[in-house]
Formats: sequence, C-alpha cells, structure tokens
Amino acid sequence: MSHPPSQPRTPVFAANWKMSHGPTETGAFVERFTARHSRRSDATVVIFPPAISLAAFAAAASDRPDLEFGVQDVHTELEGAHTSGISAAMVPATGATWALAGHSERRREFGDTDADVGRKLVRILEAGLRPVLCVGETLEERESGRLAAVLETQIREAIRPLDRESRAGLVYAYEPVWAIGTGRTASPADAAEAHAIVREQLARAEGCDAERTAILYGGSVKPANIEALLSGPGVDGVLVGGASLDPDSWAAICAAGG
Ligand code: PGA
Repeated sequence: MSHPPSQPRTPVFAANWKMSHGPTETGAFVERFTARHSRRSDATVVIFPPAISLAAFAAAASDRPDLEFGVQDVHTELEGAHTSGISAAMVPATGATWALAGHSERRREFGDTDADVGRKLVRILEAGLRPVLCVGETLEERESGRLAAVLETQIREAIRPLDRESRAGLVYAYEPVWAIGTGRTASPADAAEAHAIVREQLARAEGCDAERTAILYGGSVKPANIEALLSGPGVDGVLVGGASLDPDSWAAICAAGG
C-alpha cells in the first residue's frame, strides 16, 4: 500500500457530477469553465465526472493541469468477472488522481457497507489515488440524536483495514444525507459542529492526522451559500453536486474564499 504524505489543509473545491455530463457535454463544460476560472495557487479544484467521460475530460483539460479529476467509485476487487466494475488499478492510466468512497448514493442505491468502503479505500490507496471518504447522517439519525455515533461508526469501520501510515492520506467529506440534492443546506453552525465531531474522531484514531486533514462539506452547496459555509470553523472545502453541473455556477463556487 502506498503512503501519501499528509497534506496541509489546502481548500478543496470538488465537483461530483454523478450520472450527468457524458463525453460531449464534458468537453463543452471544460471549454466554458476554463474560460471563466483562472488557476488558483491557494486551492485545489477537482472534478469527478462519470467514468465514461474521463477520457473526454482529460483531453479537454489537457492544457489545464491545475484541474484535477477523479472517479466516483471503485470496485472492492482489482480484476475479474465483475461486469461494470471499475478497478482502482486501472484508474491512474486515465490521468485521474482522486477517488470518492462511500458516497451516500452508493450506500443507498448499491448497498455499499462500511466494510465495503474500507476495502475500496485500500484499493484506492494501493493505486496511489487520493481518496475522499464521504460520511453523513440521515434526517432520522440526526433527529434521534445519533449524529456523532453515526459519523464515528462510518469512520471507524471504513479506516479499520488501513495501516497507520495510510490513514493520514485521506480527505473527508461530511455530507448530511438530508441536504443532498434537496435544496436544504446545513447551516454553517450545523456543518461546523459535524466537522468538529469528525476531527475529534480523527484525533482519537491511530495514525490519523486530525489537524492536517481536510474535511469538506457537501449538500446543496451553491454560489449563494458557499462563502458562509466556508467561513465555518474547520470547513476546508466543499463537495458539490447539482451546482457543479453548470460551468458558470461552478466557476462562481471555485472563486469563493479567495
Ligand atoms: P448536491 O450533492 O450538491 O446536489 O446536494 C452533493 C453530493 O452528493 O456530493
């Protein structure tokens, strides 16, 4: 397993396109976005296109190495009879350097368990990719007072198979399930509270580097709320779905906090 060094908390603006933007739309997006977004030396911009659009993204953004990109998921296995699976080992050849793990839509629609997420993190790190571990509670879990317990379990179980050195190489995304795609955003105070819970958990976990680990917020982030969210203590960036699909809106988000 490779051991990425721990990174200082450079702000990360991450776009999760989910199942939007095929190869044709991807080329058009990159053209318009790059006309509006200048390279930032103080922040990382990373886009997660659908896997079928990775080659189109790499080609369209070939003169913009500041735009990093990644995959939305990998399979728990490296090869074999797993129709439609994406092997982490095959990702670097596309130019992608990041991978999401544990997105709530993977957990809900595809049944990914915390143990699966842990196996995926191992594959992602072995491939030398930078993982973003997504965690977050449902509305029912929040309203029944289980926010901290849910986040702690998701993190503990996902990082269990990682060796000490690898654990410091993760980026986290706190994404309350009730805020994803609903237009309902966590208040900056809610986000800061959850980020503090994640950071406390990292401070207790062996090998994690709580102070140097970036924790992103995700869930109905848009140009109108980005500055308020980023101003919250311990919020080191954002993971954006819907509002990242429009190049103008994504450029406005990526200009925040500058
Ligand atoms: P949203 O999605 O911005 O559309 O709420 C965020 C995510 O699921 O990563």
